[in-house]
Amino acid sequence: MKKVLHIVGARPNFMKAAPIHKAIAERGRLVQVLVHTGQHYDVKMSDVFFTDLGMAPPDVYLGIGSGSHAEQTARTMIELEKVFLREKPDLVSVVGDVNSTLAGALVASKMGIRISHVEAGLRSFDPRMPEEINRIVTDRLADLLLTPSPDADANLLKEGVDPARIHLVGNVMIDTLLASKAQAEKLPTLSELGLTPGAYAVCTLHRASNVDDPKVLGGLLSSLAHVSTRVPVVFPVHPRTRKMLADHGLSGMLERSPGLRLVEPMGYLEFLALTSQAQLILTDSGGLQEESTALGVPCLTLRENTERPITVEQGTNLVVGTDPVRISEEADRALDGNGKKGRVPALWDGRTAERIAELYERVLGEGSGALRASA
Ligand code: UD1
Repeated sequence: MKKVLHIVGARPNFMKAAPIHKAIAERGRLVQVLVHTGQHYDVKMSDVFFTDLGMAPPDVYLGIGSGSHAEQTARTMIELEKVFLREKPDLVSVVGDVNSTLAGALVASKMGIRISHVEAGLRSFDPRMPEEINRIVTDRLADLLLTPSPDADANLLKEGVDPARIHLVGNVMIDTLLASKAQAEKLPTLSELGLTPGAYAVCTLHRASNVDDPKVLGGLLSSLAHVSTRVPVVFPVHPRTRKMLADHGLSGMLERSPGLRLVEPMGYLEFLALTSQAQLILTDSGGLQEESTALGVPCLTLRENTERPITVEQGTNLVVGTDPVRISEEADRALDGNGKKGRVPALWDGRTAERIAELYERVLGEGSGALRASA
């Protein structure tokens, strides 16, 4: 049987790889190896997702950890090369846009191993975002480009990609969301936090451009403080953000806003319980923009751009930037019941992983070289 090697590394990878791994396992026509690079390593940033998602534990754990972009990517590449030599996969499947994604694509391409990129074609057109560099390079190297929405196809075609490499499969993260929602909503998360369904906001912030600059982070906190005068704001704090709040001496600002509730990073199910019943979501996360659209909850994206325009064109997302006045105005509008309404995009239907598993079987059954020939 042909072998697929999956790479995961950071928090947003797990809910994308889990349904693909499961679908392939259920069909039983391919052998799989799951490699966790260890880019994220805290229990709350990694282990809890395996439990929550019912995901098989990784077959290989590389323990890469944190570092500069060059250090983290290079260490991951060195270790992945050893794994690829040992495992000899027929296809390497990478997801998303984190440094582990890029490292996997670079190593596989130099070794002549076929690559599938799940979530291909997304572009923020902002080269200052490390994720944008990861997306562009990974897409350039991948043989199979699996896209979540037609805008991603259009980006790839504009870049001159052969249409034969592009496969519009839908949004695999929404598979996980739909499969988990009922279970999540049975959890006591809201009552434990003293929240009423539909009467609170959720916030996440972790982008370097938002949290590393004290002026930007301070401005964002002031708009959250405003929102928290109207409804409780639950803010699970990413470790990077926690560190920046302390380094920039911003923790005092939070103490003056009792409605702003900083909590530890949450597991997948707990967090889904929180987002699915929220009145408003404020975020700089890419995945959460998509989840808000799938859940029909208004979302304010605290960035100047998005690589996920379909969430704005069709969904509940509004890109509002980082100006505290604009954020507060749009939040007020949403809390007054005039938040953005939307619909769920086509193929965000819970069956993307099945389509991916079928595609992998078909492609691997065609014999080696078929992909390169059409690329
Ligand atoms: C990474 C991804 C980003 C993704 C995000 C989700 C890249 C370039 N960025 O950003 O696209 O949206 O994950 O969380 O790959 N840390 C811990 N514990 C952990 C992991 C990290 O304390 O388990 C701290 C460390 O101080 C580390 C910092 O967070 O230096 C940043 O981690 P890193 O993996 O470099 O990037 P993220 O900001 O998490």
